[in-house]
Amino acid sequence: MKKLFSSILFSLLIAVHLLHADEGMWIPMLLDQFNIDIMHREGFRLTAEDIYSINRASMKDAVVIFGGGCTAELISPDGLLITNHHCGYRSIQRHSTLEHDYLTNGFWAMSREEELPNPGLTVTFLKRMEDVTERILGKVNDTMSEEERDRVVREESRKIEQEATHGTGLKAVVKPFYMGNQYFLLVQKVYRDVRLVGAPPSAIGKFGGDTDNWMWPRHTGDFSLFRIYAGKDNEPAGYAADNQPYHPDYFFPISLKGVHPGDFTMIIGYPGSTYEYVPSYHLKMLVEDIYPKLIDIRTKKLDIINAGMNSDPKIRIQYAAKNAGLSNSWKCWKGEIRGLNKLNAIQKKQDYEYRFLQWTHEDPQRKSKYGALLAEYRKLYPEYSRYLLASDYINEVFFRYGAEAVNLAHYFTPLVEMTEQRADKDQINREVEALKSRCKSFFRDYNKPVDEKLFGAGVRMYVVNMPREFYPLALLSWQGKTGKYMEHVYGKTMFADSAKVFDLLDGFSAASVKKLQKDPAYALAVDVKRLYDDKIEPELRRLRVEKKRLDRLYMAAQLAFNKGKHLYPDANFTMRVTYGKIRGYEPRDAVDYRFQTTLNGVMEKDNPAIYDYHVPEKLKELYRNKDYGPYGEKGRLPVCFIATNHTTGGNSGSPVIDANGYLVGVNFDRAWEGVMSDLMFNPSQCRNISLDIRYALFLIDKYAGAGYLLREMKLIR
Ligand code: ARG
Ligand code: GLU
Repeated sequence: MKKLFSSILFSLLIAVHLLHADEGMWIPMLLDQFNIDIMHREGFRLTAEDIYSINRASMKDAVVIFGGGCTAELISPDGLLITNHHCGYRSIQRHSTLEHDYLTNGFWAMSREEELPNPGLTVTFLKRMEDVTERILGKVNDTMSEEERDRVVREESRKIEQEATHGTGLKAVVKPFYMGNQYFLLVQKVYRDVRLVGAPPSAIGKFGGDTDNWMWPRHTGDFSLFRIYAGKDNEPAGYAADNQPYHPDYFFPISLKGVHPGDFTMIIGYPGSTYEYVPSYHLKMLVEDIYPKLIDIRTKKLDIINAGMNSDPKIRIQYAAKNAGLSNSWKCWKGEIRGLNKLNAIQKKQDYEYRFLQWTHEDPQRKSKYGALLAEYRKLYPEYSRYLLASDYINEVFFRYGAEAVNLAHYFTPLVEMTEQRADKDQINREVEALKSRCKSFFRDYNKPVDEKLFGAGVRMYVVNMPREFYPLALLSWQGKTGKYMEHVYGKTMFADSAKVFDLLDGFSAASVKKLQKDPAYALAVDVKRLYDDKIEPELRRLRVEKKRLDRLYMAAQLAFNKGKHLYPDANFTMRVTYGKIRGYEPRDAVDYRFQTTLNGVMEKDNPAIYDYHVPEKLKELYRNKDYGPYGEKGRLPVCFIATNHTTGGNSGSPVIDANGYLVGVNFDRAWEGVMSDLMFNPSQCRNISLDIRYALFLIDKYAGAGYLLREMKLIR
């Protein structure tokens, strides 16, 4: 009896424990202290040292930051890297033309000589990390103003970074964790010669496109291959034809055994940002204010871009990456709103805050330190939201994600200033050359009718959604004649016309400045920038400083309030480890999603009438012949799988590792019902989506005929 009881109790404990085991993005250096026992209980067979060690080769030596925002991992002793197709997308696109359309047809180097260099693309290794909290926080005190505190932290960080890298060629960065309650030094090594080795056609690498993006069941072969090159000494070097393939300290063996429900999986990668500890006001701001407005404007813009892309294959290439970028967050925001509402997240936070407040009132010292925090947040958020929205809206309409010609014009302001201030000739020439190269890549991917429509839609929405005090001058003076104004800008501006812009740059002189200043797109860019600098930026800065102080205190308070639980720090684009299990989920009543998709599902989606669902002829043939070789399982070819690992943007391309430390997949997405995990994790709905590594190997081998690449990998059968 007693035995039965204790085993029930034990399984209850396990069940409770399992519910929470999957949430969290953990610091690799501290796994030994906080996580390894749980990981072992969940099935992991190796040690914390095997993941992160500074004394010997470990998994961390095989995981890199790819470019500026993705993860990639080494899969051979000769520097071969695998990441997502969407992470390599820019590089693939830059090598693509109508004649050599690698986006559409794929690219496979058949020898090392054919691998393509990508100027500007880097990969970053983590050499080591170190807790430097005492050194940093030892320099500050509570009487300092936030600005002063910031300055002191910055200075001390620079000092630590310099000491860590002095004379080594390494890079170092000190980053805040737990909102500035803890600091870590990260020492990195950056390689700069990274070449494209292979990419499937978009009809595989982006199969399902933005229709299936953020969704399960998924059938995307989202991977691409690159290779790191180094100088003769295996150290970083700029591109040179005779650089050697880089030999890493560690690379992942690849398992062909696949995954099954309940299997342990672990992901090492670079999650960008999460917001798990924000107050309810933050959720309210996003769900009720910011997201709905941004969703509306992007819906408009995507309609315009999609129409353009569907009308002309050239526009399809030109706007493919822009479209993917715009659509990606647009769809994620929609999912987040839905997920948060379903979780009743605002109410949950409010309940938590109520308990928190009670706790602060239990103790006079706590009360004086933390008692007013939530009231201060409550005062801050309406203002913060107002300026944040204005800033986002300006970006959406005029700058980074909006009217392209106006954005381009904006890049000419430094040249005008230099000329007016009579800077020396060399400096001006250098600026002119830099602008020429910017314009070259700009006009390569530019279509005036599309841009004109983007501008028109953006301005119309701006007028409706922004208060008048945030109108740029030009809009005020043309008020009531918005339509005319838009014709005026795109009728007259030179920035929508490559020949005119290059004319100006080629013959640039002091007189050209007058011409620039008379240009309506330029004038608008200057107006908007002035509005931003005068009315928005100073307020936003002030509010951010204030918010930062509250965030730091609230985080410290929450750490104390949750004493006994180990809270993970929010993601901050540093290396993290997350672990979970292979598991399906129930997205809605009576619907069960299984954990795995197969090539059969690709064929089910095949539809020549829908661009996102064209299946290449060759893939159909391989399917008909069922020639899956060692990559298939029970007559089917696995394509993607889901698991309960807690991931976010930046984790794309991360290795999915099994209990033995072998690579079984490449992470590339999350499922729609769970994308609110950036703000609140729901263990029953949050799933990360990975490419089954066997699908990648099958494609390399059987589809591309690049099986020679498999010979440098270590395959575990
Ligand atoms: N949702 C994934 C991520 O956040 C994939 C995005 C790329 N794919 C796409 N169809 N836009 O990056
Ligand atoms: N696709 C995302 C990325 O590029 C990963 C998906 C997510 O946000 O979890 O990092």
